[in-house]
Amino acid sequence: MSVHTLTVDGEEVAVPAGATLLDAVRAAGAELPTLCHLDGLTPVGACRLCLVELEGSGKLQPACATAAGEGMAVLTQTPQLQAYRRMAVELFFAEGNHVCAFCVANGNCELQDVAVAVGMDHSRFPYQYPQRRVDASHPHFAIDHHRCILCTRCMRVCDEIEGAHVWDVANRGGECSIIAGLDQPWGEVQACTSCGKCVDVCPTGAIFRKDDTTAEKQTHRERPQLLRDAREKRQWQNQ
Ligand code: SF4
Ligand code: SF4
Ligand code: FES
Repeated sequence: MSVHTLTVDGEEVAVPAGATLLDAVRAAGAELPTLCHLDGLTPVGACRLCLVELEGSGKLQPACATAAGEGMAVLTQTPQLQAYRRMAVELFFAEGNHVCAFCVANGNCELQDVAVAVGMDHSRFPYQYPQRRVDASHPHFAIDHHRCILCTRCMRVCDEIEGAHVWDVANRGGECSIIAGLDQPWGEVQACTSCGKCVDVCPTGAIFRKDDTTAEKQTHRERPQLLRDAREKRQWQNQ
């Protein structure tokens, strides 16, 4: 197996060819905040939280979507990166309506976890208080677009693991949103198998089970990787 040798914050690591910079960072025992990334799903580099710097070039790259290369020198904790990460999290909170005290994911929310990790205690950006839709037309689940951070995990798990491709992203800029089917009420989309994978992977309280009340949502972010391994490597948990 061919490997690449590189450094992460001065620490030398070797990763298999095809590994990402995020794999290399993890192999070095370092941590990076991530929101759009989920092991088992195709990386998209959408949230920009895992930005790292390539020493020498000063270039910032999303670690989850950048291939590790021989001889790279990766920096993960420069003051510039820390400032960018904090700003990105502040913008997530300012753009949506994240009223944690009334959220099903309170206490089990990756956006909250990331805010703590980057030391965000308030947002310097004005809150937008957007007026968005809540779609409760599905018999078991609902989506509250006020809490959606457009990470597209729901879209990717539904497409890549479940094979139903119920979700898509529509529009651009401030109008950008996740849509079900052809922008229909979720409950009318016949392709939905009601498997709940999108509920399991949504990092916030945007997609939830109807019987979950405040602070009750439990995510299962390990499931896409378990399912992918089970199918590709024929590794079943009950073997
Ligand atoms: S419940 Fe399953 S099939 Fe329906 S939208 Fe979610 S992931 Fe797709
Ligand atoms: S609904 Fe949840 S999983 Fe889907 S894009 Fe929004 S935050 Fe991400
Ligand atoms: S986790 Fe890498 S860009 Fe979102």
